[in-house]
Amino acid sequence: MFENMSWGKRNRLASIVAADGHALMLAIDHGYFMGPTTGMERPAEAIATLLPYIDSLMLSPGILSSCISNSFAKGIVLRASGGNTVLDADIDDEELILEAVEAIKLNASAVAVSVFIGSEHGHQTLMNLTDMINAASKFNLPVLGVTGVGKALKDRKEKRYLSHASRICAELGADIVKTYYCDGFEEVVVKCPVPIVVAGGPKLDTDKDVLELCYNVIQCGAIGVDMGRNVWQHAYPEAILAGVHGILHGGLKVKAALDLVESLKNDKTRRKELFVETKEDVATSRLH
Ligand code: R5P
Repeated sequence: MFENMSWGKRNRLASIVAADGHALMLAIDHGYFMGPTTGMERPAEAIATLLPYIDSLMLSPGILSSCISNSFAKGIVLRASGGNTVLDADIDDEELILEAVEAIKLNASAVAVSVFIGSEHGHQTLMNLTDMINAASKFNLPVLGVTGVGKALKDRKEKRYLSHASRICAELGADIVKTYYCDGFEEVVVKCPVPIVVAGGPKLDTDKDVLELCYNVIQCGAIGVDMGRNVWQHAYPEAILAGVHGILHGGLKVKAALDLVESLKNDKTRRKELFVETKEDVATSRLH
């Protein structure tokens, strides 16, 4: 999959993409623009039982150094763009927040930069991506291009836009593209020459929806998911993540994965709700 790359880059990517060619990334970076989102108020506690199931964590540099044990030995995908929050008019006014050398000092396996193509600050975000690709190249540090949608682009989770945005990330040199699932998703994958992972998006209604998403992503040729809210906002995060793992790495079909999820739901695996979720919290959680 990454045959043309240098040894260092391939070695780093091996901590993100498992030997079976699939990648289960747990996204917990939401706080960089959403604040203490429901389910991720206390990151260390929220992920404590989830780590055995994942290949890598996607997170901000501050949460890595303040909440994650320095014995963590899985892949680390560091968010490298930011500077805008949900309290602003939109979330696309991002700049680079991390230098490649700082990512190396944190033992990152890769860095992630969002682009908001077609939005007011689209050009700036594409330059963020190219600047990071050029800087990261000095260290053989892989770069993940993330096709973001904010308020202005919220209706663009469809194949024409996502193909356009994913292809542009690949053309600029991203090693992996993270985008959204959509109808006709196989076309997005075919038109993108580098591997694709899919964001989970806002919380889906049922476990079946979550597992079908994961199954369909793989069937369409993507390498995996970089999923957040559908795991850690779930009433039973470990159970649903075990189902996702079963599909990505165990070859399970949706029904078998659903059975696995059900079998793991119990008082011990139930998420502890630390705070009452307000209407505002729900709205914030659903903004992208
Ligand atoms: C966007 O890049 C966000 O920061 C998340 O990493 C991404 O949306 C994946 O998380 P979720 O599955 O909650 O959408």
